[in-house]
Amino acid sequence: MTTGTPATTGTPAATGTPATTGTSATTGDLPPSLVATLPGDWYVDPAVFALEQRLIFESMWFCVTRSADLPAPGSFRTAVVGRESVLIGRGRDGTVRAFFNVCRHRGARLCTEESGTVGRAFRCTYHAWTYDLDGRLIAAPNLTKMPDVDRIGYGLVRVHVREWLGYVWVCLADDPPPFEDDVLGEVVTRLGDARAIDRYGVADLELGRRIRYDVAANWKLIVENFMECYHCATIHPELVEVLPEFAAGYAAQYYVGHGAEFGERIEGFTVDGSPGLDRIPTLSPEQDRRYFAITVKPQVFVNLVPDHVILHRMFPLAPDRTIVECDWLYLPDVVASGRDLDRSVELFHRVNQQDFDACERCQPSMSSRVYARGGVLVPSEHHIGGFHDWVRAKLAGTGSPGAGSPG
Ligand code: FES
Ligand code: FE
Repeated sequence: MTTGTPATTGTPAATGTPATTGTSATTGDLPPSLVATLPGDWYVDPAVFALEQRLIFESMWFCVTRSADLPAPGSFRTAVVGRESVLIGRGRDGTVRAFFNVCRHRGARLCTEESGTVGRAFRCTYHAWTYDLDGRLIAAPNLTKMPDVDRIGYGLVRVHVREWLGYVWVCLADDPPPFEDDVLGEVVTRLGDARAIDRYGVADLELGRRIRYDVAANWKLIVENFMECYHCATIHPELVEVLPEFAAGYAAQYYVGHGAEFGERIEGFTVDGSPGLDRIPTLSPEQDRRYFAITVKPQVFVNLVPDHVILHRMFPLAPDRTIVECDWLYLPDVVASGRDLDRSVELFHRVNQQDFDACERCQPSMSSRVYARGGVLVPSEHHIGGFHDWVRAKLAGTGSPGAGSPG
C-alpha cells in the first residue's frame, strides 16, 4: 500500500455528476441475471467524492476512535470526517465531547496533532484564544476589552457524540439520524439479534494491536471487497484454511444469523490454525468456533471470533486514498499477561494486506474507458448491488434526511 496520487479522470464520461435515480444507467445490455456495478468514474471523480463527503460521511454516524484512546481529562484525538477535521476530547467530568477543530477567531486549526493531551484547555497557537475542555471560550488576549465577544457564542462548535462498542461515533449533521437506525440496525440485520453482539462485550475488551493501512483505493472498493467472499479462494489462502466454507466463494458473512464455521482440525482463529487466546466467556454455543462479520455503513467493519474482535475504521481522504485503522481486541487479562498475539493478529493482518492490494489493483482501472460503464456482479453478489443502490440513494439525497440534494 502506497500513498496515492490524486486521481485524474481519463475520459469525458468520467467528469459528469452521478445519476440521481435509483436505477443504474449502465445495466443496458446485460442479461437480467447480471447486475452492473457503479460506473468507474464513481470511484475517481472528485465531484462524486465531494457528494459522498457531504451526504454520507458528514450526515451519518461516523466511528472516529476508541473511547480508551482518550484515557484521561485533556486527552484528545483528531479525525478527518468528510471535509472536516473533528476534535474529540475527554472533559474534566469524564465525558467525551467532539467539536469542529476550528478556532472561532480566525479559523486556525486548533489541534494539529492526531492525538495528545492538553492540560486544562485547548489553546489556539495563533492568537491564544483558549477553550475549556467543554468547548467554552474561557480566555483570549484583551478579552475584557472586547465586550462584544460573547464567550458562549464563540465557543467551539459541538458535534453530536455517541459511544458504542467502546468506540466514539460522531455525527456532523445538525439533526443526526437516529443512531439505532444507522448503526444498530446493521447489527440486527446481519446477526438477526441486537443482543448477539452484546455477548462479545466489545466495550470491555482491550486493544491488543492496532495497525494503520494507507490504501490507494476508493473507500467503496474496500467496502465492496469486504462484503464479498468471491475472492477468498484466490487471495486468502490462510483464511480459507481456517474457514473452509469461504473457499466456495459465497459471501457467508452476509447471511443473517450465520457465521462461517472453523475447519475441523482448526483450533483457533490464527494464521496457522493453532490455538488462539482465551475465549470470551459470555458467548453462546452457537458463537463458538465461528466467524461473523458485520459492515456498519459507511465506514466500519466488525469481525467477531471466539477469542477476539477485529474492528476496522475507514477514513476516506480522497477519491483514491483511504486510511484504515484496524484494532485487534482481546480480553483484558490476555493483554495484561503480555501473551504473544502474533499468530492471532497475523491472520487478519494478511487478509487486510491481501484485500487492500486487490483494491489498489482495481483503483487505476476505474478511470479506464473500458470500465466507464462499470463491471459485473455475479448473482451471489446481489448484496453488493444493494450497497450500490444505497450509495445511489444517498447521493440522490433520498436517504439522508435534511442533508439536501446533490449539487
Ligand atoms: Fe485562533 Fe486567532 S485564529 S486565536
Ligand atoms: Fe477478503
